[in-house]
Parts: sequence; C-alpha cells; structure tokens
Amino acid sequence: MKEYQFKEGFLWGGACSAVQCEGRSPEDGKQDNIWDQWYREDPGAFYQGVGPEVTSDFYHNYEQLIKMMRECGITSFRTSLQWARIISDRDGTVNRKGIGFYHRVIDALLDNGIEPILCLNHFDMPMYWMEKGGFECRETVDAFAAFARVCYGEFSGKVRRWVTFNEPVITPEQGYLYLHHYPLVQDGRRAAQVAYYIQLASSMAVEAYRQMGCSGQIGIVLNLTPTYCRNPEDERDRKAAYAADLFFNRSFLDPSVKGEYPADLVRILEENQAVPVHMEQELETIRRNTVDYLGVNYYHPRRVVHRSRPLESGTFMPDRYFEYYTPENCRMNKSRGWEIYEKGLYDIGVNIRDHYGNIPWMVTENGMGVQDEEQFLNEEGMVEDGYRVEFIKDHLRWLHKAIEEGCNCFGYHMWCPFDSWSWSNAYKNRYGFIRIDINDHARPSFKRSAAWFRRVSDGNRFTD
Ligand code: BG6
Repeated sequence: MKEYQFKEGFLWGGACSAVQCEGRSPEDGKQDNIWDQWYREDPGAFYQGVGPEVTSDFYHNYEQLIKMMRECGITSFRTSLQWARIISDRDGTVNRKGIGFYHRVIDALLDNGIEPILCLNHFDMPMYWMEKGGFECRETVDAFAAFARVCYGEFSGKVRRWVTFNEPVITPEQGYLYLHHYPLVQDGRRAAQVAYYIQLASSMAVEAYRQMGCSGQIGIVLNLTPTYCRNPEDERDRKAAYAADLFFNRSFLDPSVKGEYPADLVRILEENQAVPVHMEQELETIRRNTVDYLGVNYYHPRRVVHRSRPLESGTFMPDRYFEYYTPENCRMNKSRGWEIYEKGLYDIGVNIRDHYGNIPWMVTENGMGVQDEEQFLNEEGMVEDGYRVEFIKDHLRWLHKAIEEGCNCFGYHMWCPFDSWSWSNAYKNRYGFIRIDINDHARPSFKRSAAWFRRVSDGNRFTD
C-alpha cells in the first residue's frame, strides 16, 4: 500500500461559478446576463430545455450547501461574483442587495472554516454590455476594471485570494469560433479581438488590485490543455501541436505570466490579417501586470495531427493549422466525451516549472461529470460513485509526483462539490460529492465519494 502525503496547508476544496449555482434569482435586482438571454431566445439549445433559472438554488440554499461542503472536507471554495448582480447598468450603479448576498456567502464560508476564493468573471456578461458588443467593445474593458474595483473595495478585507477570469479562452473559442456559447458568432478576427480585450481586462483588474493596495494575491484560472501530436517523429505533426498550443494555451498563459504574447502567435495573426485593434499603452499595461499565481483547470488532453487537406472556411479558424484525432484505445469519460489522461496534470506542472518560472499554481478544477447517476443509487438512496474516487486518485498520484519533482502546486479543487448546472449541458452530467435532485432542491444528499474526500483533506494524504 503506497501513501501519498501532501504538505501542510495544501488547499483541498472545490469550485463553482455564480451562474452555475445561484439560480437567476432576480429578486435582489440582478440584471440579465447572456445566459438568461440565450435561454429566453432558444430554450431548446439547453439539455432537456433546462435553463439558468434555478440551477443549484445556491442563492437561497447557500447556508446548507456550505455546511455540507465542509463535511466533505472542502476547506477552500472558489465561486464567482456575478457582474450583473453587483452592477445594475452601464453607468456602474452598484446594487447593494447583490453586494449583501455575497457578503452573506463569504461570511458563511468563513464561519464554516472555508477559505473563499473569488473570481471576477466566469463566462458571464451582463446584457447591458453585450448589447454594446461585450468584449469586442473597448468600453466594456474599462467597465470590467471598474467592477473589479467595486469588488475589491467591498470584499478584499475578507478574501485573500482572487481570480480575474476563469478560462478566458472559452469566450473567444466557444462564443466567436465554435458556436457553443452566446453570441454564437463564427469569425476568427472578432475572436482575436475578444481574446485580446479579455486579456487586457484581466491585466487591468490586476493593476487595480495593486493600485488599491490589497494585500492578498491575484491570479487567473486557465484551462491549460496539454497538446500532444500523433507522431512526434513527424515534423508536420509537431508543428500542428505547436500551433494549437499557441492558440489555446499560450494566448493567455504567456501574457498573464510573462506579460507578453508569443511572437509566433502574433505572426500567425498577422498572416491572417487578424491582429486585434490595440494600443502601445495597453500592451504596457499587460507587460506590467502579470499574475501572482495560476489556477489550472484540467479535464482532458488535446490530441492533434497535421491537416490532411486545407480547411474550407470563409473565416480564419485556428483549425487551419491542425486537425483533431482520437487515439485508439484511449480511456474516455463516455458521458462527457472527454478522454481521461491523468498524466496531463503532471505534464502541465513540468511545463509551468520549466517554462514559466515555476510560478505558484493550484488545480482549480478537475472532476468527472457522469450522466444518469440515479443508476448508482443504493438502497439508502446514496450514489455509489467509486468511479469518482478512482478518477481523483489517478490524478492526485500524478500531481504528487509533479510536486515531488519540484512543481510549485499548492492546492487541488474539485469541480464541483455539489451538482451544478453545466451551461448548455444543463444537468446532464453530475460532478458533485453532493447530489442535487433538480425536482427537490431542498434536500441535497452526500454521495459515497464525500466521506473519502473528507479523509483526504483531513489527513493531507491518501493511500492506494
Ligand atoms: C470548466 C468550466 O471548463 O469545466 C466550468 O470552468 C464547467 O464552468 C466545467 O462547468 C465542466 O464542464 P461541463 O461542460 O461539463 O460543465
């Protein structure tokens, strides 16, 4: 039996996001965001027509869920502050009721011995800014920095760890290239502009944090998806992986940690007339305001091969430079359609250690979404999710090895401690240690994995 010991103070916890757990709960003056709007326009785009209306009902049920999270061994919890709940309009009017809600949540977390980690943006854009173009519009960037200042002013006395954006690449990627997020646009040049303005917004939020003299730490959460090519002996495949890595990992990793964009990414954008509108002074802001730490969300690797024939597309798409493939016999999480490849976490750690100054980082999301978990209910009505424990252990072994080899990882967060709403997948796949019956929100229940995670968290270790 092998024991895996993690250092004292290692963060064990979980993450969720405002839109995915709170429910729309507009009674306190929350304004609509893009998810409310998209659901109104096209409910059929969401699995079984379930929209963001109720989600995990955290807005009303946060006290119970926080107590239950602590019982699962969650000692730190990341959620996001919903821009449209805190700021009411384009003039920046602050909604005191929205602020009050987040104060109550933070206090409840602290009372239960859970460190709150706050993220300023997790895929949510208020409609009053989306109408102006969202992150295609420069004014939105300034408004985001102003929103960040309001949040620091209110909460930084109680919250020591902050995050500017969760997975910033997702908005340009899924909203402006691959048609999975609102506004469902497919246009490579617009995607590049959005990506650049999101990076600028993140850097300006870091700048504001320092200007206000906040004493904690501020980071960014990236879905660093390690890219592997089919045949490392084939230079064309290696180039394909290099390009995919530039687009989907380094486009935010380099400016956030090193303060500058990779020259090869800029060259590709130039070749495709897709260089965003920018100013020298903005690049200087990005240069000066790198993050204190990184959050890494890891679910699956990216497997690519060189293009066998040119991409037919009216707009510039990153896929011009590579194709995806699925290796034979790879392990899949069939519910989500994602490959399970635990070593990816180790490879990420080594990359950060060797190429990004070994900046402190934590796993901010990892987890296994499983469909129809009802089939695993035992006689007592508990979900027997041994597969989740195995999934976590498999990843923690590689994480442990990375740390033993000098990687600077200080925590591991599960997505998500309780079942939550997964964007257009709605409640299809369940991730939690805590089961939520969407027909009976008032009675969340523990799954088998909850007690196991509690033991890991209490002892900072697990055994095979
Ligand atoms: C991450 C996001 O990409 O993955 C979460 O930060 C998301 O918001 C999670 O819920 C799991 O993915 P999905 O699509 O199954 O919800």
